[in-house]
Amino acid sequence: MAQHDDGVTAPDDDAVHTGARTGTAIQVAAERDESPGIGVVQTDKVINPGFPPHNPRQTDLVPAKDKRAERQVAILFFLSIIGSIFALAAYIAFPINPGDFGSIRTNNLLLGLGITLGLLGIGLGAVHWAKQLMREDESVELRHGTRGTEATREKAVEVFTLGNEESGIGRRTLIRNSLIGALVLTPVPAIALFRDLAPIADPVYLLQHTMWKTGTRLTHDPTGVPIKASDVTLGSAFHVIPEGLLQRSDALEQKAKAAVLLMRLKPEDLHVSAGKESWNYDGIVAYSQICTHVGCPVALYEQQTHHLLCPCHQSQFDITQEAKVIFGPARRPLPQLPITVDSNGYLVARSDFHEPVGPDFWEREL
Ligand code: FES
Repeated sequence: MAQHDDGVTAPDDDAVHTGARTGTAIQVAAERDESPGIGVVQTDKVINPGFPPHNPRQTDLVPAKDKRAERQVAILFFLSIIGSIFALAAYIAFPINPGDFGSIRTNNLLLGLGITLGLLGIGLGAVHWAKQLMREDESVELRHGTRGTEATREKAVEVFTLGNEESGIGRRTLIRNSLIGALVLTPVPAIALFRDLAPIADPVYLLQHTMWKTGTRLTHDPTGVPIKASDVTLGSAFHVIPEGLLQRSDALEQKAKAAVLLMRLKPEDLHVSAGKESWNYDGIVAYSQICTHVGCPVALYEQQTHHLLCPCHQSQFDITQEAKVIFGPARRPLPQLPITVDSNGYLVARSDFHEPVGPDFWEREL
């Protein structure tokens, strides 16, 4: 049985709500001159306990403690400033040297410590400020219309004034100024970090060129042993890298653009377009291994059909037709590396690729 606001007792609240009315409920509804289909509203069983009464803090009662808390907050904000400056100084004083993992570790460690201190100082300072110094009276704001009126504007000003008064941000200049300093300096290390994401050299140039150039020998991947034309038998396929790649400090970045697949077909099986007659050597052809869809390595060669398959999204390229796309999402053929042999019979590049390798990018013209 439940007691309602108006003193009416309902036999079973759940039954009333589900529509399974008992005789008493129908009788109650009839006495209230309601149709039997009207539900009976029950009171909320959970009572809002509200906020506990405010206990004055030490900082409310003792001015010296108030002052000390203020200094503590300011110290935390100053620590944040020191952390941010430290991060910036560490970034400049301990740069990352390519290939030196020790320098990467030191740079990341010091930068991380500085940024941590910068963020922690602001966070702890704000919490300490709120808990020890800001007023914590309970206030009730009744819902009202959102239409802006003069009275609303005045009220807004009042709220801001009250907020200023409660937080003390206008009066406590030490806290305010140290907070502003901390907030201004905190993003500075992030600027340095984001700059590191971009290469120092022109990224478009880097995308358009690889380390292949006239006379660069084709070598086995990963041994770096030069390949003679006579080593490449009919139907064979080689994973190839440029000579000298393994000695470079940016070997991985260069390999990501310069990796090549080398295959030998019967010269009569190749359909060579005008101007590219000299790009193969006696049926030996070299194509970029970087898929023109999204850049996976095209590593599967089907020697019966002379098709190359990219395992990522199944694009297929026909080597007999200058690596034309015959299936899958790739839009462009694999770029061909023009090759020949040097005086010792080793396969060498005639030039770099004549178009950028890999997927499309905005500045790409070919
Ligand atoms: S990356 Fe080769 S098909 Fe998608």
